[in-house]
Amino acid sequence: MEISVFGTGYVGLVAGACLSDLGNTVTCVDIDEKKIEALNRGNVPIYEPGLEELVKKNHAEKRLFFTTNSVEAIQNSRIIFIAVGTPQDEAGRAELKYVIQVAQTIAKNANSPKIIVDKSTVPIGTAKKVQDLVRSITSHEIDVVSNPEFLREGTAVRDFLEPDRVVIGAYNEKSADTIGLLYKPLGKEILFTSPESAEMIKYASNAFLATKISFINEIANLCEKTGADVCEVAMGMGLDPRIGKQFLNAGAGYGGSCFPKDVAALQRIAQDHDLEMKIVHATQQVNAGQKIVPVEKLRREFASLAGKKIVVLGLAFKPNTDDMREASSVEIIRALSKEGARICAIDPIAEENAKKILAGTKGLEFEKDPYKAAKNADAIILATEWNEFLELDFARIGKEMKSKILVDARNVYDKKTLMGLGFKHQGIGR
Ligand code: UDX
Repeated sequence: MEISVFGTGYVGLVAGACLSDLGNTVTCVDIDEKKIEALNRGNVPIYEPGLEELVKKNHAEKRLFFTTNSVEAIQNSRIIFIAVGTPQDEAGRAELKYVIQVAQTIAKNANSPKIIVDKSTVPIGTAKKVQDLVRSITSHEIDVVSNPEFLREGTAVRDFLEPDRVVIGAYNEKSADTIGLLYKPLGKEILFTSPESAEMIKYASNAFLATKISFINEIANLCEKTGADVCEVAMGMGLDPRIGKQFLNAGAGYGGSCFPKDVAALQRIAQDHDLEMKIVHATQQVNAGQKIVPVEKLRREFASLAGKKIVVLGLAFKPNTDDMREASSVEIIRALSKEGARICAIDPIAEENAKKILAGTKGLEFEKDPYKAAKNADAIILATEWNEFLELDFARIGKEMKSKILVDARNVYDKKTLMGLGFKHQGIGR
């Protein structure tokens, strides 16, 4: 099928590359000329395992194209995906400006019937709004379908090609079936719903997962007071299939481009309908507090953090990405800096992005080698559990440090082993 995808961010690029790999002819459209030029040379601007290979292969085999020419892309495609950003506006709502702009461009340039597929995360009711808008501009038959993405950064390609579920929300059965055909090669069950339900499924799923994390973090804080170990508790809970094991890892809270934004947006949507999302609100509050729990632990270790050298291992909001959006490390580093600590930060991939977000932070320096960073350090905080940090030689690290204090904010190290090496190991909730 002839498809175009508007927006070459994480979602658009992954969707475009994967759909072309399934045999479709896909044109990815973006207004950013430099980005399009780079993509045409095979350079993928984001760090996403497996994506560059997929882009290069399908581009070489002439199934995947990149262009700034939206008119041509629209006129050559029967199916048009919208995967542009929906950043959070000041009131916490998802900003629809870019989605609307693309929809208008499609309507103004449509030369035949089209299906617009909305992949961006948008407020409930957006498909209807977009459909009404395009139909007011063109007389060509245009249907709008909601097809939310459930991609995790770092495993986005696999998540697209091996999804747990595909959700297609449509008003028109024929359009729903046409979009369903795109996903048929994946061999997964497709859930057909109304567009409103599809839009809600996305928000409800992310808010639920975020709630699971905040819930276990609250339990973790209580475990610390009562002598229980949250890892054992999570294991015991997770064995009940109704609860499930996933997303019960206590730590320094959640970050990223989705959970914080979607949790805020869902509350805003509710407010716009005179409702209050009490649980979702609590999820957000617990998460804000949880991000600085590692710093609170250090405050209890030292009379003052002023002048202390603290190593922060891992900066990205999670491993295997360079994404720093809403990363817990940012809150940790800002809190440490405020108290006059000297911070030595390390990340295998996200250093450049971290430097931008944390520009001007007092007392912050970056290091590449953890062993060098550990020299004369008063404490280490593991903020993001990159594989590189799981296999560190802590006997060697300990020899470099001034005091062997380790805050394991993702509960990844073996407490007994570290204690054997003379470390004071502090996990979260244990
Ligand atoms: C998430 C959803 O998982 C995905 O389905 C959706 O499409 C986009 O948002 P992503 O933001 O890439 O994906 O990351 P994810 O792996 O879900 O982790 C989000 C955050 O939660 C990370 O900061 C992670 O460290 C944290 N987390 C996750 C926990 O603190 N504990 C857990 O048990 C799981």
